[in-house]
Amino acid sequence: MKLVIVGTGYVGLVTGSCFAEFGYDTLCVDKNENRINELKNAKSPFFEPGLDDLLSKHINKTKLLSFTSSLSSAMNNADIVFITVGTPYLKSEEETDLSAVREVAKEIAENIKNYTVVVTKSTVPPGTTKEVKKIIASKVPEKNFDVVSNPEFLREGSAINDFMRPDRVIIGIENKKSENIMREIYRPLFLKETPIISTTIESSEIIKYASNSFLATKIAFINEVSDLCEKVDADVQDVAKAMGLDNRIGSKFLNVSPGYGGSCFPKDVKTFSSAAKKYGVDLSIVKAVDSSNTQRTINIASRIIKKIGNNLNKKEVCLLGLSFKPNTDDIRESAAIIIARELINKGAKVNCFDPKAMNNAKKVIPKLNCCMSAYEACDNASAIIIATEWNEFRALNLSKIKESASEAVIFDLRNIYNKQYVINLGIEYHGIGK
Ligand code: UDX
Repeated sequence: MKLVIVGTGYVGLVTGSCFAEFGYDTLCVDKNENRINELKNAKSPFFEPGLDDLLSKHINKTKLLSFTSSLSSAMNNADIVFITVGTPYLKSEEETDLSAVREVAKEIAENIKNYTVVVTKSTVPPGTTKEVKKIIASKVPEKNFDVVSNPEFLREGSAINDFMRPDRVIIGIENKKSENIMREIYRPLFLKETPIISTTIESSEIIKYASNSFLATKIAFINEVSDLCEKVDADVQDVAKAMGLDNRIGSKFLNVSPGYGGSCFPKDVKTFSSAAKKYGVDLSIVKAVDSSNTQRTINIASRIIKKIGNNLNKKEVCLLGLSFKPNTDDIRESAAIIIARELINKGAKVNCFDPKAMNNAKKVIPKLNCCMSAYEACDNASAIIIATEWNEFRALNLSKIKESASEAVIFDLRNIYNKQYVINLGIEYHGIGK
């Protein structure tokens, strides 16, 4: 079986590397020639734990993984082509930018040689896979291809594990022939008792958005509950823990935060409600989650600024964590970046540290003073903000930090410290929801 993966972003590169790990001959395509040249040297354009090892193993040892910038040549004896290009949300048009998907569909149509299964793995609004089918059918007889929807559920920072041990695999199919081919390539997972759910193409497309929007809803929900907990002196961690013990609710994605970020939740929530609107359906809860989350980050930033003192001129503020979550260098829609901007706009000097994301952050906020360690970032700080729950921040020597900071004040936006423990050290502690 020869697989072609079109688009070498988080989804495409992890998918290609993992299919090579399954033992399939996998060719990744990207029109960005610089990226292709870097990848041929087993250098990933972003940090993802374990990805570099997989790349070098399958590029240099098994030679099952290769790269090209030419989709037309890649289509030679391709059995399955995965579309894994970006589908960003266009705020101005209030819709998803599907131009890359359409462009790839056209190029596939011009180069299909033999029967090929064309798979949309990018997160696409309902109806997009059928649109891909129409584009290809305008040039290729329908007996020569089938389209399938096969959404991914990879989390950045644990993407390889999520691919290798998924809770389920979803395949939206139109016939048994393409279903059997998809079940065949995921057979290595089946040995691990992974349920492979086949359904219609539209159901598959909706499953992805509904899953992500529901996870985002859980986060926005507990974040709002945490605001009430603060007012009535309750502890949101106790509340979340007790809620999660109800197996109808589940404990995951009930950790409070300054708001969810990343390249998926913010985009998928907006796309889901705007796509539904096209069919005259008002996903009011999903819309409310989006506005609640956007407002939350701004509220958290204003609370911090108010507590430090509205005139931040000349004040030094320490920001620990820039990425939207730990174990990634991705800062897209990161709450930490939004908070950094607010602080700098108010005149503060922001001294920051993040194990992986400082280069990316500096590109978007040049005024950030990136330090070599968490301790250096805490020096002379009027306040210390823990914005991302990297393991590196979980056991800091707080007594040492208290000595070097100018004001002993900690804003723990991920509740990684015990409130009483910090107060006993003589440090002013502000957690979330407690
Ligand atoms: C998400 C989905 O989890 C994944 O299934 C989908 O394929 C892609 O989008 P990702 O965005 O990579 O994955 O990371 P995730 O771990 O879901 O975190 C997203 C955001 O939610 C982060 O900003 C994180 O800090 C936040 N979050 C997560 C919370 O605020 N609270 C939680 O309990 C969990």
